[in-house]
Amino acid sequence: MSLALVFLGPPGAGKGTQAKTCAERHRLFHVSTGDLFRQNLREETPVGLVARGFMDRGHLVPDEVVCAMVRGCLEAEETTEGFILDGFPRTISQAEALEEDLEQLERPLTSVVSFEIDDGMLMERLTGRLTCKGCSAPFHKTFNPPQEAGVCDDCGADLYTRDDDTEPAVAARLDEYHDKTAPLLGYYETRGLLRSVDAAQPVDGVSGALERALEDR
Ligand code: AP5
Repeated sequence: MSLALVFLGPPGAGKGTQAKTCAERHRLFHVSTGDLFRQNLREETPVGLVARGFMDRGHLVPDEVVCAMVRGCLEAEETTEGFILDGFPRTISQAEALEEDLEQLERPLTSVVSFEIDDGMLMERLTGRLTCKGCSAPFHKTFNPPQEAGVCDDCGADLYTRDDDTEPAVAARLDEYHDKTAPLLGYYETRGLLRSVDAAQPVDGVSGALERALEDR
């Protein structure tokens, strides 16, 4: 049975880091709504122009914009091998829309992985993050430095600091998480889909815990 996964957790919990390697390991299509919005911003598409104001302030982009974007991805051929939704859904209304879309595509979710970590660790992770301009791979100045300063290990493109990795924007993103996204934990628990992973460990430890959680289906 192919995997149909949601990665859920606060900003900086390590969803993107784990989604990248997990997608490679299991040959899954990695859909990161944050990366898709940043690509739309760079290309100055109508979606990017709508998203910009919300993202810079650390607020969620309106549900209807996100849901339409993800629906387009899920209908794409690449999803047939299985997929990881990284950063989606983030509200109950997004989760309900996703459920309907997946029902129509006959691709029910297999697991929702919750990356558990205290807020206290997240500011340091995010303000020290370096992101690849080419492939979006996340690095960290201290915890996961690139082999060559300022250059992506994977594709060789330049690394940059995201506009929303400032202290005020991170604080706003954390508020949004607790207010609008954390209720999804209960939503998926009642559906028997929730698996928890301790995301406060080093990257390899989280990867091991994730694999064990995926076996527990
Ligand atoms: P998005 O890009 O999804 O940001 P996020 O959820 O805030 O998540 P992050 O990318 O910041 O963190 P992550 O958990 O992926 O951590 P990472 O692996 O990079 O969204 C950005 C914005 O887009 C939102 O604010 C919103 O405006 C909009 N948006 C997106 N989706 C939306 C939706 N569904 N609805 C509405 N709006 C939406 O790791 C972080 C750092 O820690 C890195 O430096 C990494 O190297 C390091 N690290 C990772 N793991 C470890 C570890 N185990 N130990 C030490 N360091 C680690």
